[in-house]
Amino acid sequence: MTLRLALDGVYLQPPTDDDLVQLARRAADPGAVLPPGEAHFVTWIAGRTPQQSAQDRIARVQANRDHTRRPGWTLDLAVMVEEQPAGVQSLSGFDQWPHHRVVGTTSWLLAAFQDRGIGTLARAAVLELAFAHLRAESAKSWVLDENRASIGVSTKLGYRLIDRHHITEHGSRYAEGVYQLDRDAWLESPVRPRYRPAITGAEHLVHLLDR
Ligand SMILES: CC(C)(COP(=O)(O)OP(=O)(O)OC[C@H]1O[C@@H](n2cnc3c(N)ncnc32)[C@H](O)[C@@H]1OP(=O)(O)O)[C@@H](O)C(=O)NCCC(=O)NCCS
Repeated sequence: MTLRLALDGVYLQPPTDDDLVQLARRAADPGAVLPPGEAHFVTWIAGRTPQQSAQDRIARVQANRDHTRRPGWTLDLAVMVEEQPAGVQSLSGFDQWPHHRVVGTTSWLLAAFQDRGIGTLARAAVLELAFAHLRAESAKSWVLDENRASIGVSTKLGYRLIDRHHITEHGSRYAEGVYQLDRDAWLESPVRPRYRPAITGAEHLVHLLDR
């Protein structure tokens, strides 16, 4: 049974090769995900040609499908809106998994789907998968200070800012915040009932990632 996370008419599931090619091609067009001045928000877009970016993305998601490889793992899910792939929500377990169950998230949506609450639904859906099914202890998100939409999603879902530092990307220096949400805070959060997805087909993944 295929993994599926469904919430408010949006659903997340592992992308088919067709979904992946469609998403990668659309996302690689300049401005399709981020305006030109903001391309540095997402490292796999910044500094690459559209063709390189599309090829890299397809190859990475295909390699990530093998969840038996360690250390660490990444689950990439297509965000489906009206039966169309609108973006990708990823969830990763870090190197020490399953001894230390810390996950990270990354996501992007095509511009037409942004700022409509869909990114919040997608992040909440994978948090529920991580905390209630995969027994994660905490979820972290690294976000540039300028990326207000990503910070907006984290804040709405109850993450707290735990660290700030500077990073250098392509010769420019940016301030980055580290946001964290712990398992108990999520399970008892007042926002959880509002954003609780129906999760089906998770058993195989839970079994694989417990090893
Ligand atoms: C980050 C992203 C996935 C969020 O998804 P989204 O659907 O746009 O986000 P939502 O609509 O669910 O929520 C965004 C929140 O941030 C707020 N926000 C957006 N832009 C903002 C700005 N410039 N200043 C302040 N708040 C802002 C929104 O108002 C909203 O909060 P609200 O519901 O309380 O009003 C999406 O915007 C995206 O794909 N961005 C480009 C790629 C990227 O930066 N990815 C993250 C790095 S991995």
